[in-house]
Amino acid sequence: MKELHPITKAIRLQTEQTAQKEHSTPLFLTSSFTYDSAEEMADAFSDDETAANIYSRFSNPTVDEFIAKIAALENAETGIATATGMAAVFGTFMTFLKAGDHIISASAVFGSTHTILTKYLPKWGIEYSYFDMDKPETIEALIKPNTKMLYVETPSNPGLNIIDIELLSGVCKPRNILLVVDNCFATPAVQQPINFGADLVVHSATKFIDGQGRVLGGVVVGNKTLIKELYLFIRNTGPSLSAFNAWVLTKSLETLHLRMDKHADNALQLATKLEGNSKINNVKYPFLKTHPQYYIAKKQMSNGGGIVTFEIRSGLEGGRNFLNALQLLSMTNNLGDSRSIASHPASTTHSKLSEAERNAVGISPGLIRISVGLEYIDDIVDDILQALEVS
Ligand SMILES: Cc1ncc(COP(=O)(O)O)c(C=O)c1O
Repeated sequence: MKELHPITKAIRLQTEQTAQKEHSTPLFLTSSFTYDSAEEMADAFSDDETAANIYSRFSNPTVDEFIAKIAALENAETGIATATGMAAVFGTFMTFLKAGDHIISASAVFGSTHTILTKYLPKWGIEYSYFDMDKPETIEALIKPNTKMLYVETPSNPGLNIIDIELLSGVCKPRNILLVVDNCFATPAVQQPINFGADLVVHSATKFIDGQGRVLGGVVVGNKTLIKELYLFIRNTGPSLSAFNAWVLTKSLETLHLRMDKHADNALQLATKLEGNSKINNVKYPFLKTHPQYYIAKKQMSNGGGIVTFEIRSGLEGGRNFLNALQLLSMTNNLGDSRSIASHPASTTHSKLSEAERNAVGISPGLIRISVGLEYIDDIVDDILQALEVS
């Protein structure tokens, strides 16, 4: 058979059929695996890269199926799955950075990633520098002889900043700096950073990859040499993905492209309808022409994804009033669900930051993030418009 398209692989890659002749993928909910002889068992332990399953902290067929599908979608050689997105981010930092190294990161990154960069890495002798995602020309001046990694989210959470991955790769490759991209907001259905020169791609699979707000998970993909190092870190330190969560996630991948198309279609319609609304400023969506990096989004994303942001003119109080007035949208901090979700970062996820820190990462007092779900679009728009009236 000719090489299958990644969309087909996301639906069809499956663990080898068992004697039960199952059609849908089975769940290998087992902590460990058995051997036919003492010699076979000894062999399995003699080689860190053995193909044999030993223990589900090391590998598991259901987890491997999920990894194979994500790697196919991301155009990566291979990958490793983790218990959460943060375990994927932290594992990547711990595997490829050591005391004395330096990492450059966009300042607009997810809150817990910001905490690792600013509170934990310095404790272990790893320095960090932040750059403004809207000013990629400032990166080169931050590079030092000990710079080992450049880290970005594109689009970023929650500000939807976008950066040209190919341009970053041009900065990193000649200097042997690892380029790591958090592709959580776009998903591999919309953007494949490796095609633009990223070395490693990390995900919170908890978001659109699950797509229905059920399980936590993470994954990192890249070339075999890098992933082997990461695999040994995860295998020995323990933040492995559970087989049950992998089973949920691998089933979800069968509908990822379909869902992302609908999320993006609904999101673009919502963003377009919100433009010009007198209660808000600055509607932001990657595929709106008014997005500051619209042309970069068009270059590296196949649609604008499922997140829309806007700023309520009446600030912090207006943001709270807006959330309280919603009748359909869920008030929760997750995103990437079939159900539309509204969140107000200044009074919730980022409330512990000072106003100056919030401004530095693009979170104004009235910023609202909508994770646009799969409901009928008029119902989503109507609920947001009526809540804006009382904001
Ligand atoms: C961009 C991004 N990266 C990483 C994470 C962390 O993922 P998890 O919650 O699965 O640990 C999140 C979670 O919101 C995120 O939005």
